[in-house]
Amino acid sequence: PFRIAVLISGRGSNLQALIDAQQAGALPVEILLVASNKATAEGLRKAEAAGIPTLALDPAVYPDRASYDHALFSRVAASGPDLIVLAGFMRIIDPAAVAGWHGRMINIHPSLLPKYPGLKTHQRAIAAGDTVHGASVHFVTAELDGGPVIAQVELPILPGDTPDALAERLLRHEHRLLCHCVAQIAAGRITLGDSGVLVEGQPLGEPLRL
Ligand code: GAR
Repeated sequence: PFRIAVLISGRGSNLQALIDAQQAGALPVEILLVASNKATAEGLRKAEAAGIPTLALDPAVYPDRASYDHALFSRVAASGPDLIVLAGFMRIIDPAAVAGWHGRMINIHPSLLPKYPGLKTHQRAIAAGDTVHGASVHFVTAELDGGPVIAQVELPILPGDTPDALAERLLRHEHRLLCHCVAQIAAGRITLGDSGVLVEGQPLGEPLRL
């Protein structure tokens, strides 16, 4: 089967969604490795519980970002994935490490990109008075949260919404979005071409709406 490695930094609910879909037979992938920059990440325990090999690599013991990312991505590459999935991996990645995975690394981001790259996306959407929020899955390029968007989910921002409430409501849609995108890529239906995302070889105009 198609082989993936998942990078996380925390809770790992998106990772769990991938595991659940895979175990239910709805996602024909093998999860080779779950790697984290934080040894205490709850998601590592979720991977262990599912019998998936884990790797925790602490950035503090490396002199700089480039050497950490080189070490991390070398280890991930050694596991042999077809695709790297960033699922709540909360670090900027060195462009040299990104370059080796062009078209073979995706990220889930909790905003309707190109709106709100970076952090505190729910808070920023509410503060801006937006009535619609969402999440995006995109191919990773050297530009932070700036790679070609594959698909998005939308949900309304409700009167009185707090960042936490909005994030919580968005989460299960994220899970559906991420599983769908990984399944499509695993099936070879979605690829990254020179001019952007391709669906069965044809340019994707607007991001898919799920
Ligand atoms: C998710 O909401 C994901 O979209 C976000 O972190 C959360 C991880 O949750 N990612 C980013 O903000 C990336 N910059 P999880 O650990 O439960 O999957």
